[in-house]
Amino acid sequence: MDTHPICIAPSMLSANFMKLSDELSSIATADYLHFDVMDGHFVPNLSFGCPILRAVKASSDLPVDVHLMVDNPETTLEWYLDAGADSFTIHMEAQTHLKRLIDTIHSAHKRACVALNPATAVMNLDDVIEDVDMVLVMSVNPGFGGQSFIESTCKKIAKVKALCDEHGVNPVIEVDGGINAHNAYDVARAGATMLVAGSSVFNEHDRSAAIEALRSSAQRGALEAKRA
Ligand code: DX5
Ligand code: ZN
Repeated sequence: MDTHPICIAPSMLSANFMKLSDELSSIATADYLHFDVMDGHFVPNLSFGCPILRAVKASSDLPVDVHLMVDNPETTLEWYLDAGADSFTIHMEAQTHLKRLIDTIHSAHKRACVALNPATAVMNLDDVIEDVDMVLVMSVNPGFGGQSFIESTCKKIAKVKALCDEHGVNPVIEVDGGINAHNAYDVARAGATMLVAGSSVFNEHDRSAAIEALRSSAQRGALEAKRA
């Protein structure tokens, strides 16, 4: 099966919101923009919503993945579609009618991703793995930027990969939380190709260099996995 290219997706949550336009220009070498929507219920924190997504889409050419950390994705999805989202990441834990929501996303010709919190088992993916374009393995408990990477994530990524092989499918495997140039190698070696990074990009002065450091570390990990 074809391997997916390594993609780096800076998380806007760590950007300076007073200088959003400059912040977006500074990450132009990335592949995706990761847009964290938090509702204060599904996760304790609040972030931003549709008006900000509209503004972002008007000033950046990067495709935007909307990570919906909300209790009611079935209600809010349409708003984000309208605001220009390019793909959607929906939490397994937040959605009873996951297949219906995946169908809605696909009917709008957008990519559908299912996210697993650290405590959600990989086997829950068994009945949807053939329907999704991407699986997000959370490497922190969602809700805040700047948390430490949970080390057991690499094992979990490998389990997702094994499940995909069992089903003969090849969705993108994404990882989000505490990703830096050091562990980018490990997660890519385990099978992740889409890496979300907030602090390790926006806390650096030279964002292009930070993105490049993540990319080259992940590429080395992916190469090592191929060799093994
Ligand atoms: C956490 C968010 C992440 C977060 C990542 O709930 O989903 O996208 O912004 O930030 P870092 O890379 O700082 O952990
Ligand atoms: Zn996120």
